[in-house]
Amino acid sequence: MSIASKGLEGVVAAETKMSFIDGEKGVLEYVGIAIDDLARNSTFEETVYLLWNKRLPTKGELERFEADLRSRYAMPAGLEKLITSLPKSATPMHMLRTMVSALGMFDPSPDKNDVVSARDKALSILAQTPAIVAGFDRYRRGLSLVEPKPNLTFAQNFLYLLNGEMPTETMARAFDVCMILHADHGLNNSTFTARVVISTLSDMYSALTAAIGSLRGPLHGGANEGVMVMLGEIPSVQAAEQYVLDKLAKKDKIPGFGHRVYKAYDPRATFLKTLAKQLAADTGNQALYEKSHRIEEVMDKAVAAKGIYPNVDFYSATTYHSIGLKLDLFTPMFALSRIGGWAGHVIEQLEGNRLYRPDAEYIGPHDAKYVPIGQR
Ligand code: ACO
Repeated sequence: MSIASKGLEGVVAAETKMSFIDGEKGVLEYVGIAIDDLARNSTFEETVYLLWNKRLPTKGELERFEADLRSRYAMPAGLEKLITSLPKSATPMHMLRTMVSALGMFDPSPDKNDVVSARDKALSILAQTPAIVAGFDRYRRGLSLVEPKPNLTFAQNFLYLLNGEMPTETMARAFDVCMILHADHGLNNSTFTARVVISTLSDMYSALTAAIGSLRGPLHGGANEGVMVMLGEIPSVQAAEQYVLDKLAKKDKIPGFGHRVYKAYDPRATFLKTLAKQLAADTGNQALYEKSHRIEEVMDKAVAAKGIYPNVDFYSATTYHSIGLKLDLFTPMFALSRIGGWAGHVIEQLEGNRLYRPDAEYIGPHDAKYVPIGQR
């Protein structure tokens, strides 16, 4: 019987004051505030302030934080050159991972890990990644890059940089809400990755680069793209049931369902479901929402008893599609938001660091003899 904890399920590997999850009850709080409350009333900028400072800002503090963030929206000129020299066939998550790593080389002191410097770097990365993602997308479409506008919110700025025109209030708010919902989530795989990397006292860029690499996997943030692919494979609402049952019979996983921690409905999915429904109706994407809803009904009957419900990725697919985002930008959207969470965790780790160095259970042979190569 192995003593290894496969997948580290149930292992508590860090302390955090950022987010709290009760997977049995379907509760998520950021610094004690229910996610639903934040999604209804806050903004992404205020949420990041909350996560990094463990309290809500005053009006003046928020204004200063927003102004500081906005003053950093433009990416370094050298990075723009780098982006426009990349293969247009690159996928945006590979591009983003590489460009966040490259940002470190434009920083004259990338290795400074005192908390003030770490926050400063985090703010710049958070501010510049929208220009990086939108800039690459425009470049690969053969369009010129757009200059960021420092009078725009984080959400408005990203959609403006992507489309070259101001988003409607509804679209900007929907995007803002998505950013709030994805910002932090306990010690998920990518956050753990970021904390493991910074625990060697490496640097913010390395920690976030590694986290982006983790996030893109189909078992983690990459699932939102998997959901969209699945919706494309299902020709009609009527066909959804058979599609799902066939997959389950083959023991295939349905993307956007199940979670290591939630054994109840993911509260982010509850909010996103309502948002997806409304946006789909506004943008003529009802069929997409209806297919999603049908999949959920079938899954509910088939596997809800095992604690498998929609997770954050399921309805974010319809939401992002209705906002007008291309499929391969879905996971980068998750990353833009989660940079807030990852950076907050990196700072927490730096504040009370101890090197992560778990053990492995050795299950290979002992007392083996070296056989010279000519005798093998
Ligand atoms: N569809 C069908 N069955 C599922 C699903 C699913 N999406 N997820 C879990 N199950 C079943 C498994 O087949 C297994 O059943 P069994 O006990 O009969 O063998 C049981 O539920 C437990 O599943 P595990 O994979 O062992 O659970 P784990 O906690 O390791 O995995 C994970 C969690 C990776 C999220 C899993 O549910 C999954 O692969 N989901 C699909 C991908 C996805 O949506 N990922 C995004 C998660 S949210 C996020 O990271 C942002």
